[in-house]
Amino acid sequence: MEHSHEFQNIFNQTPETQAYAHGRVNLLGEHTDYNDGYVLPIAIPQKTTVQLGFSLDEQHHIYSQELNEKITIFRNNQPSGFASYIFGCIELLQQAGYQIPSLNLYIKSSIPIGSGLSSSAALEVATLRGIRQLLNLPINDVEIAQFAQQAEINYAGVQCGIMDQMASSLADTQHMLFLDTRTLARQILSFPALAEILIIHSGCDRTLAGSKYNQRRSECQQAAHLLGVKALRDIDDVATVEILPEPLHRRARHVVTENHRVLDAVEIIEDLQDNSASRFGELMNASHASLRNDYEVSVPALDTLVDILQNASGVFGAKLTGAGFGGACVALVASGAGKNIAATVLDEYSHAGYKGKVLVPE
Ligand code: GLA
Repeated sequence: MEHSHEFQNIFNQTPETQAYAHGRVNLLGEHTDYNDGYVLPIAIPQKTTVQLGFSLDEQHHIYSQELNEKITIFRNNQPSGFASYIFGCIELLQQAGYQIPSLNLYIKSSIPIGSGLSSSAALEVATLRGIRQLLNLPINDVEIAQFAQQAEINYAGVQCGIMDQMASSLADTQHMLFLDTRTLARQILSFPALAEILIIHSGCDRTLAGSKYNQRRSECQQAAHLLGVKALRDIDDVATVEILPEPLHRRARHVVTENHRVLDAVEIIEDLQDNSASRFGELMNASHASLRNDYEVSVPALDTLVDILQNASGVFGAKLTGAGFGGACVALVASGAGKNIAATVLDEYSHAGYKGKVLVPE
């Protein structure tokens, strides 16, 4: 097994098995998943790898290479930080009736934490895959995503939807995953022709992501309640939300229009039209405007970066990705042009006083 000496150095044994899971970038359908709506993510090359062995004492031991930190979990004692995601996965498997022995886990990841590229979902999915492999558990990839989402909600305190975990468990880096988060029906779609992805970190860490995220979620629930529907996904005509008070009106307008943008994008891809990349890009631009004005999850650094990207030649469209409040932006750009566009954009971004970093292409 590749890199097993690192595990050996920490735990003084060879690992039994290893598993990995990719991060994701969401192209359209932001903040729609906890409204039972539609999303369109794709996996990114960056991934998290978990190596596992059996612990010789009664505790779980976890080592994170990035944080250079070793944590011991005394059984049933919830740890804080990155280990809480792993603890959550183990607890949920046990609650589902699986006997989980004490484990040694070595974590290694190339997904930047707090970038909006789902490092936590990848950690959860890689951990669950690793345990499934080690113990031969009869759980499928959708169940892995569901356990991972519950770990995030119940043990990390973020009332997230299921997009990140489904993307990490089911998407690949070459196709978009069109997911209906209510039914979990999904379709693998080809990427817009003659285009590639560019992802740039704004250099601004996500702040308030957890608390504001949960606030947005409860605003959507209130809006759905006032409109008499189960979830905002059930609203098709955007005029319906006009009766809501502010800010619920704008929050609901974002969700309703964002769901339409995902469905429009799917239609564009299925039509196989020559200009699919530019039409897809326009939808991404509209998504960012809606996230900024109606949903209010952007910050000045993200708006500056998106603005520079949208005006750069060779860019079809750009938006923030993930929860917002900092992290990365994603752009759809002409095939093969990503690296050059990134250099020009980063230069202009630094003149605006910020320091960004290209994450994809690597
Ligand atoms: C985070 C959450 C997802 C989703 C996005 C916003 O990544 O984990 O469930 O809500 O924000 O689209």
